[in-house]
Amino acid sequence: MNINIVYATYSGTTTLAVEKLVSLLENKNNNVTVEYIENFKPKKNQSDSLIIFATPSWLEENKDAQPHTHFISFINNNESSDFSNMNMAFMGLGDSDYPRFCGGIDIVANFFISKGAKKIGNTLKLNKYQFYPQQGDLQIASWVDKLAI
Ligand SMILES: Cc1cc2nc3c(=O)[nH]c(=O)nc-3n(C[C@H](O)[C@H](O)[C@H](O)COP(=O)(O)O)c2cc1C
Repeated sequence: MNINIVYATYSGTTTLAVEKLVSLLENKNNNVTVEYIENFKPKKNQSDSLIIFATPSWLEENKDAQPHTHFISFINNNESSDFSNMNMAFMGLGDSDYPRFCGGIDIVANFFISKGAKKIGNTLKLNKYQFYPQQGDLQIASWVDKLAI
């Protein structure tokens, strides 16, 4: 399957999780591309492919548990876009010491679903991946298996 991973990062942790995700997906013979959200241009008629979005949660504009600022820009610029017929999955990076764990990816997922996207699988939420990468990698592997791709 063609899979496009679209992500953002502040301090590099999401990049590490995305790299793990790429290797697991490629091991299953998927054709994987990766890009930053600021370069993402949605294409129509992609019902046979999957887009995986990944963002950390962060303090933005004095609000906690927000997606990366480039995701916020994307959302603000696409209020009238239609993402129906697109398959999407969601991976969040966060820290459970903050009040709303991985709230940022929930905002991203809710946005795309509200614009017609079909959500595949559960939202994956990785806790303190920079400190516990092995635990996170097991979660990523199990999530990939459940995506059934
Ligand atoms: C200023 C700041 C605010 C954060 N706010 C949240 C939050 O509200 N919820 C959460 O789950 N994690 C929060 N985090 C944790 C980050 O999302 C987490 O460390 C993530 O792995 C960072 O990913 P990155 O290295 O790709 O930027 C925050 C971290 C910082 C430094």
